[in-house]
Parts: sequence; C-alpha cells; structure tokens
Amino acid sequence: MDGFEGPQGYSERFGLTHVNFEDANRQRTPKQSAYFFSGVIENNGFGTPARHLKEVAEITVTPRTSKLVASQVPSEAKVVWDTLSRQSRFQRHKYHYGTFPQDFLWGVSSSAYQIEGAWRADGKGMSIWDKFSHTPGKVLHNDNGDIACDSYNKLEIDIGLLKQLKVTHYRMSISWPRVLPDGTTNNINEAGVDYYHRVIDALLAANIQPQVTLYHWDLPQALEDQGGWLSDMVVDRFREYADFLFSRFGHKVKFWITINEPYIIALLGYGYGSFAPGNHDPGSLHYVAGHNVIKAHAEAWHVYNDKYRAEQKGRISITLNSDWAEPRNPYKQEDIDAAKRYMDFFLGWFANPIFVGDYNEPMKRIIRERSLANGLDKSRLPEFTPAEIERIRGTHDFFGLNHYTSVLAFMVISDRTWLESGSNWLKIAPLGFRKLLKYIKDEYGDPPILVTENGVSENGPVDLNDEHRSYFYENYINEMLKANMTDGANVIGYTAWSLMDNLEWASGYGERFGLFYVNHTNADRPRTPKTSVPFYTTIVRCNGFPNPADGPHDCTNPLFSTSGPISDALLIVSKKRSKKRRDD
Ligand code: BGC
Repeated sequence: MDGFEGPQGYSERFGLTHVNFEDANRQRTPKQSAYFFSGVIENNGFGTPARHLKEVAEITVTPRTSKLVASQVPSEAKVVWDTLSRQSRFQRHKYHYGTFPQDFLWGVSSSAYQIEGAWRADGKGMSIWDKFSHTPGKVLHNDNGDIACDSYNKLEIDIGLLKQLKVTHYRMSISWPRVLPDGTTNNINEAGVDYYHRVIDALLAANIQPQVTLYHWDLPQALEDQGGWLSDMVVDRFREYADFLFSRFGHKVKFWITINEPYIIALLGYGYGSFAPGNHDPGSLHYVAGHNVIKAHAEAWHVYNDKYRAEQKGRISITLNSDWAEPRNPYKQEDIDAAKRYMDFFLGWFANPIFVGDYNEPMKRIIRERSLANGLDKSRLPEFTPAEIERIRGTHDFFGLNHYTSVLAFMVISDRTWLESGSNWLKIAPLGFRKLLKYIKDEYGDPPILVTENGVSENGPVDLNDEHRSYFYENYINEMLKANMTDGANVIGYTAWSLMDNLEWASGYGERFGLFYVNHTNADRPRTPKTSVPFYTTIVRCNGFPNPADGPHDCTNPLFSTSGPISDALLIVSKKRSKKRRDD
C-alpha cells in the first residue's frame, strides 16, 4: 500500500492500495491495479487473450461526463493533463469495445490539387501550387500535380473505390482556379463547374454525401500576384468565390468546409516558405496571412448563414489541424505549462477567434512582449477590432479537425518509443487523439466535432500489405471511441486521409497516405487496394468495435473475431519470453 517514501514523504505512492493519509483511520481502498494484479495471480499469468480482455473491459467502464455549461469554458481544459495524461500505461492502452452513435458519419478524404491533375485542361487557371511545384527544387524529386492521380478523368473509377470502402461521406475540395481561373467571378469557367457537378452527382447517385472544402491550399496565382493571403483584398475575393459555389452547388451539398488548415497555409506558406507560395519570413508575415484567413472564413460563413442556410439547410465550418501536446512529465507544472502554450499557439491561434472570440491572451501577451523586446513599436500579431471580434466569433456549425500526431512538451520533441511513419513529422501516437478531442470539448464549448482528416503514410518500396495503416486506424479510432463513450466528446463523424496515394505537397509522390495504391509511373494511374481497405471498411460497417463477447456480428471479419491489440501484445511478449527461456 501507499506509504512513507523517504525524502518524498507521502507524495510518491507505490501502493496497490490507496491509503488516505488525511483520515485518522488511514482508510485503505484498493486501486484498479490491485484487481488487475489479483487476476494475474489467479491466472498464474495472463490467461487466454479473450478472457483477459473481458476482465479489462469490466474494469474500464467510467461514467460519461456531463456536458459543460458555456461559462466553464475554457477553464476546464487543463483537466485533460491532470487526468488523462496521468493515466497509467496500462489504462492508456486498454482496448475499448463499443459502437458509435447510429447517425455517425464515416468518410474518406482527398483534395483537388493532390489528386485531380488536368492542370491546364478545359480553361483551368494557374494556382500557387502549379507555380511552386514547377520551380526546381521546391518539391521532392521535382514532382508536381500536372497529372497527379488523374482524378479529373477517372470519376467512375474513384466512385467505385468509395463504394468499395462503404463510406457514407466523401470529403473533397474544389480547385478555385478551375472554376474561377483568375480568382474573380468576372471569369467563370463553366467547364470546371460542370466537372464538379459531375463529381457531386455521381456521389449522390452512389448514396455518398459530399463534404466540400472550398479552399485546400490552391490559391489562384492571379490573386497571389496581388498579395495573396497577405493582402486583405483576398477576404472579399474569398467571399465572392464562396457565394458563387453556394449558388451553384448548394442545392446538392449539405456539408461545407471553408478552409483547410489555416495553420499550414499561414506558417508553411508565408512563414517558413516550404509550401506554396514559398514566402520566407518567419518573423511576422504568417500572422498577417493567418489574420486574413480567419476573416475570409468568417465572411464565407456569414454569406452562407445570411443568404443560403434557410433554403439549403446545410452545415458550414472550418477545418483546423492540431497536434496534441503531451507534457513530458505530467506531474511537473513547467511541462504542463509548455504543453498549454503549444496548444494555444497551434490550435488556439485559429480556434480562439472563431469559437471563443479574439486571439487567446497568452498568444497576445507573448508575441507582444517579444516584439517590443526586439525593438518593434507594436506586436507582430495583428489586432482585430471589436467589431471584427464579434463578426468572427461563433462562425462555426461544427469543429472540423485534422489530427495526425503528438509531441512531448518541454522542449518540443516526440517520444522515441512512438512508431515511425513515412513522414518525418508523423509519429504514431494514438494516445493524443482522445486527449485532443476531450480538450476541444472542454476548451471550446463542447462543439460537435467532425474529424475531417486522420491517417498515416509510408515511403520506400511499395508493399500493399500496409499493416501499419490498419494498426493506425484501429488504434486512433479506438481512442476516438473512448473520447466519445467515456469522455462524452460529441464526435459526429470521421474521415480517413486519404482515399488514394496522391501528391503529398512538397514531398511529392514519395510519401503515400492512400488506402488505395496508385502507380504513378503507369500512364493509366491504376488504383489497387492495400490490405487496410477491408480493414477500414470493417470498422465502418461495424460502426466501431462491437464486443466479440456479445456474440457474432454480421459486420465483422476474422480480424475482429480474435483478441484486440493488448492481448496480442501480451501474447507476443510472452512468446518472446518463452523463446528466450528455451534459448537460455
Ligand atoms: C493536409 C493534406 C495532407 C495531409 C498529410 C494535411 O495537413 O490537409 O493535404 O496530405 O495532411 O500530410
């Protein structure tokens, strides 16, 4: 049981049994580990996987938390670090059986520049990515999206892939310069408009709902030539573009996403310059670009809200991307503060103005202090006027979230034990997903959360047996299930990135995120399912992970009829151990 720990007194607790040192009677309460340990003793080891899992499932159930009232937001967010980050490794890795709500949306996503190709077809204008990728040295191997997956010409095939996946939703984006070649409504390219009608009609005919992103990074070059996201003229152009799309497609599309990942647009496009348009100025211009992105989003939302919502009855929001920041030591205040700062500067940069109102205080304070210390007369972070704050606040119908990875906060690093992927920035860390969802619930007023991207890559030689992707989806989606069932996060849908291998921006075709493999050296760009296709399809069909102990489920395949990952892991460990013993 917990006892006196030398110089640490009673603050370090080693016991299987909790002892209340404030109680004169020193009341003892067994911890969950006590039950677990007695089970190990009873079984003289780990028993059969199925049995072990059942016991785990019985121990794990915790009550759904009640919904927060708005006045508590954002003060409760730190609860995530206080509780979930201090979970034992055992608790963290527990498998969770259960299914998502009946109306859960299952999808898969892509974006125009990454798959369409046909960069000059039928009157399309140039985008900043066309120019950037044609500039030698900007994209790995000088790859470009001229042909990409040739989806412009392979509509039927792609619809077939979606049907095979059994998804109910497809997240796609519209190429702005394909429909408005110079970025303005003065020139409408009807051939481009027709193409998207064909895509949307084909989806609807297949009973797949389109989720349409207005802007997934391919700004018309003509607008970039006038300053791009650094100029506030883009706010008006974006409003007109949005208005145009709602007027043409709004009777068919019920899910709109204004802008994909403002963080990447601003920081990589206008700060580091590693993405189009390649503007290198990490000091302040990314804050200017971000400022205009936020205003443009708000204008598009208002156009829909004021002019189209009543008749078209759709939903519209923005998609923000965020890593999760895990304190390196969850008991150390300094590390928790670092994690909070990371979240404020990443997710909070855009989520605060839209979901709470204005930039968050820590961001405003820190950037201002540093700007003044650098001899500037004002902060590098632009200010919203009070009227702008009000216009932007509340411009959301759901919280669109893209999530891939986590970092350990102290100095920002990732945990070396996390599995690698084909992208150096992406370590497989399912544990962060649940926490991020809970954090969004607590910090931003319990919004409905639509996961608009989540996925993993590989590089190197082609291997269609992509076990790492199945592992990734199984474990990330299982963490999402915990967030939904145990923490009460209102997750309404999930969208896998990506339907097929495509142009991974500055990494070219070298990093592959697809469920389907695309052979980019073959002129036909044939698509072949990887083994993760039936795997993801099973999760979709089952709407989660029904407990095998509840009897056979029509939706399952052999993958789910055996044990989950914990017991597999234990099995592997114990096999290794016994092998070692034999070797000894
Ligand atoms: C983007 C996608 C990209 C994916 C993987 C997201 O940031 O929205 O376009 O391919 O991550 O890097």
